[in-house]
Amino acid sequence: MRAATRPIPLSSPYVDERDEELVLEVLRSGRLSLGPTIDRFEELFAEKVGAPYAAAVSSGTSGLHLLAVIAGLGAGDEVITSPYSFVASANCFIHEGATPVFADVDERTMNLDPAAVEAAITEKTKAVVAVDIFGYPCELDPIRELCAEHGLTLIQDACEALGAEYKGGAVGSHGVDAVFAFYPNKQMTTGEGGMVTTSSEETRLQLVSLRNQGRTDGGGWLDHGRLGFNYRIDDVRAALGIGQLEKLDRILGMRQAAAARYAELLAGVDRLEVPLADDADHLRSWFVYVVTLARGTDRERVIAELERQGIGTSRYLPSIHLQAYMRERYGFSEGLCPVSEDLSQRTLALPFFTAIEAEDQERVAEALTAALA
Ligand SMILES: Cc1ncc(COP(=O)(O)O)c(C=O)c1O
Repeated sequence: MRAATRPIPLSSPYVDERDEELVLEVLRSGRLSLGPTIDRFEELFAEKVGAPYAAAVSSGTSGLHLLAVIAGLGAGDEVITSPYSFVASANCFIHEGATPVFADVDERTMNLDPAAVEAAITEKTKAVVAVDIFGYPCELDPIRELCAEHGLTLIQDACEALGAEYKGGAVGSHGVDAVFAFYPNKQMTTGEGGMVTTSSEETRLQLVSLRNQGRTDGGGWLDHGRLGFNYRIDDVRAALGIGQLEKLDRILGMRQAAAARYAELLAGVDRLEVPLADDADHLRSWFVYVVTLARGTDRERVIAELERQGIGTSRYLPSIHLQAYMRERYGFSEGLCPVSEDLSQRTLALPFFTAIEAEDQERVAEALTAALA
């Protein structure tokens, strides 16, 4: 195959021999689930993000769902969240019967605008799910203040933000219950998997029980103290997670370098904005590389041209309230969250992963520049 047509995927996991070794060790140990590797993974993770407790789960989605269950969200409750996110950040409480209320995002950060959150609060509001989209930390302090003032539960969807920092502290260390995800396109992977961090011992105990079919500490295998789920991770995945955590700093550094390379390659390209730079309060963890095309640009033509050259892209992110099931169920339509809707038309994820080669990034930048000319 000619070099110029070699496909460049949107994403690719970064797994090495150390990961293989750790996974093999568990496979040979005979202890494939509910074993000590999960405890070790949780301890290392909690230490890494500076949270008192961590509970591993089967996915980011299941972690968010468990926090919605623990918050007691249900029919008649409203939960405010971001429309510019992955659907799980809203689905997690819809499954419990609560109603989504979408507050618009800030055009720069693409995260919830605290003023929009405040305006959306009603007597029925019970919680806010704040998302760190594309690894850029959300406005935690003002949102936390609003939640304290109105007695609301705050859940941080940090599924895309492992390694990010807000006001100098790692996301996960701020005393807000947070959820991380380990799907293979994430900074670190366990295949499928997730982690909930909390500063409450009580919440950790609830998580451990709820993820394990409602079994309680000290109870037998067939004793179920509460209505639970099978949202467990297994020791095989936890072993992979440990391998990934061991090299997380290197992974984050490589992703940071790849992002800096794109920023350099794309600087000065007309009709395109690169992702928002960090500032004193926000340090992004590079999950994806999403550019924003100028209004009036034919994004479909750009995508088609890159695809023709074997370059993977994705329309990150459609606005959640405009998904078919949302329109049908709640009657949401265009105009509810204009900033999110505008971004949804114009943002585009480029190939981005830990071991992306500089040469491939150059090819992407060249192709994108030509497609925009
Ligand atoms: C913002 C956000 N929330 C939740 C999730 C759900 O994570 P998972 O795919 O592990 O269920 C993801 C992952 O794609 C995500 O990006």
